Amino acid sequence: MIGRLNHVAIAVPDLAAAARLYRETLGAEVSEPVDMPEHGVTTVFVTLPNTKIELLHPLGKESPIAGFLERNASGGIHHVCYEVDDILAARDRLKASGARVLGNGEPKIGAHGKLVLFLHPKDFCGTLVEIEQA
Ligand code: CO
Repeated sequence: MIGRLNHVAIAVPDLAAAARLYRETLGAEVSEPVDMPEHGVTTVFVTLPNTKIELLHPLGKESPIAGFLERNASGGIHHVCYEVDDILAARDRLKASGARVLGNGEPKIGAHGKLVLFLHPKDFCGTLVEIEQA
């Protein structure tokens, strides 16, 4: 059911420093920061030949990654995102198998303008999983 790895998201305490690290030390193609108020994050996209890295930094008081950064002060891998051909069919199949879909279960528009859902980390080897409509 899952297809390509769309991105790996890394929460970072200092977005400018992380962008510089990827651009200068690692020599990657790095975007300008993009505020995503509806997700409570500011994102920098790192484009690699075969996938993307998303550097995430909290935006606003209710940011869903604030607690993660409190527990992981120097940052860390926050989630992985897999593409699916049909996000509603994927959701229904996952729910039928007992997996917990976060939020109200309805897909939201994600960082790439496509529909996304998040799956509970306790159901996926301790890793927060995002699925994105391909
Ligand atoms: Co993501």
